[in-house]
Amino acid sequence: KIEQHEYLIDGILKQWKGDQSPVLSPVFVKTTKGLEQKIIGSTPLLTKEEALVALDAAVKAYDRGHGQWPTFTVSERIEHVEKFLVQMRAKRTEVVNLLMWEIGKSLKDSEKEFDRTCDYIVDTINELKATDRRSATFHNEQGIMAQIRRVPLGVVLCMGPYNYPLNETFSTLLPALIMGNTVVFKPAKYGVLLIKPLIEAFRDCFPPGVINIIYGKGRDTVGALMETGKLDVFAFIGTNKGANEIKRLHPKPHRLKSILGLDAKNPAVVLPDADLDNAVSECVMGSLSFNGQRCTALKILFVHKSIVDEFIKRFNTEVAKLKIGMPWDAGVSLTPLPEPGKADYLKGLVEDAQQHGASVMNDQGGISNNTFFYPAVLYPVNSKMRVYYEEQFGPVVPIVPFDKVEETIDYVLDSNFGQQVSVFGKDSKVIANLIDAFASQVGRINLNAQCQRGPDIYPFNGRKDSAEGTLSVSDALRVFSIRTLVAAKSNESNKA
Ligand code: G3H
Repeated sequence: KIEQHEYLIDGILKQWKGDQSPVLSPVFVKTTKGLEQKIIGSTPLLTKEEALVALDAAVKAYDRGHGQWPTFTVSERIEHVEKFLVQMRAKRTEVVNLLMWEIGKSLKDSEKEFDRTCDYIVDTINELKATDRRSATFHNEQGIMAQIRRVPLGVVLCMGPYNYPLNETFSTLLPALIMGNTVVFKPAKYGVLLIKPLIEAFRDCFPPGVINIIYGKGRDTVGALMETGKLDVFAFIGTNKGANEIKRLHPKPHRLKSILGLDAKNPAVVLPDADLDNAVSECVMGSLSFNGQRCTALKILFVHKSIVDEFIKRFNTEVAKLKIGMPWDAGVSLTPLPEPGKADYLKGLVEDAQQHGASVMNDQGGISNNTFFYPAVLYPVNSKMRVYYEEQFGPVVPIVPFDKVEETIDYVLDSNFGQQVSVFGKDSKVIANLIDAFASQVGRINLNAQCQRGPDIYPFNGRKDSAEGTLSVSDALRVFSIRTLVAAKSNESNKA
């Protein structure tokens, strides 16, 4: 059991003596009383006053940071991050273990998340080294000489999601830090303990106040920070609801830059001439890997009516092969769901679809046991059902039969979300038309492949309620900085 009392403010690991918040694992374990859900630790419930101390430290490190972090050269900041990376790598086993216990992610995916995060740090460093030569450029235009500098934005509040509490968190935390911003970081609600193995590395590798790590209830902590109006950037990966609740507390919204990764309802369009084996395997993994708890998951499948019966038959055969079990079981795909009440929510979605005429098409579909939920394949789904619009963020797969491709275009146009689309088919003319129709609506169109975020070098964004700002190794460096001009008349007095 991990009782975490420490939090990081101004380079000091402080010990919290007040109330703690228990951390409940989604994994049920055998005890003498039967199967029980385990409390695996606790984290500090900081007060508003203490959260504000963290903000003051970040503000001081930014505003009074002349000659320090915000004005360090890129090479100096890179040295700090490289030192951090060495210490982080040494914590792989601990972090991977906590990913499994806290969010139920399989061992393979937990290792992948850890390694991907380290790769992201390396790629960011390399990208920055390659572009550093251009971080200050010189110009002489119309009698004005100018140096254009790339500088940080200010104080950033960083919050990551529970499904990628390490990797997605670092996708904003790292570029924010390396570009010279100072940060208050609040770890994800589930996946909160796994920052503990890294907290000393954060303290040791960055100057005081540059990164401050806080814990506690949202209203008491990040809510209080927002209300001060002192935050410059809100970097948040999570739900629209969460983002809006926090953002609206800032008294001067025009002074707050938001960098957001939010909800999505990514559709797949399976055309009549699609390679069915490929479409089925991509759609199964696209909708069900990590139990469908990915913002990039396929959340609704439009399948042409001429092939839909065969598609469902093969889809169900593949779903039946997915192994359900504990995160550390070999070859497991379906694991316990960390969000309390999630199985009931998913059951509600399935029942609503059934009441409006859909059936569960696969054996055992929708059966739940404690935090396990066996995937439910729903067909035929239509616009009267909640699952047609709502982001299920779990193992429920709605299948909609379609006749004309225009029906799928209408769905994308009418949707509140605009992250990605997958198109499966061979006819290049039809596909080209769909690409044209979708390109102005979503951030990425995947051809004969499931939706996904990576490789991290590619831009990752979305339209409408799905995102604000573009993240990728290189985009993030731009997003967390701004260009400042130092200009002078090109005359005698400015020769120096
Ligand atoms: O939850 C959203 C994640 O960014 C998805 O990333 O496509 O690499 O699983 P992924």
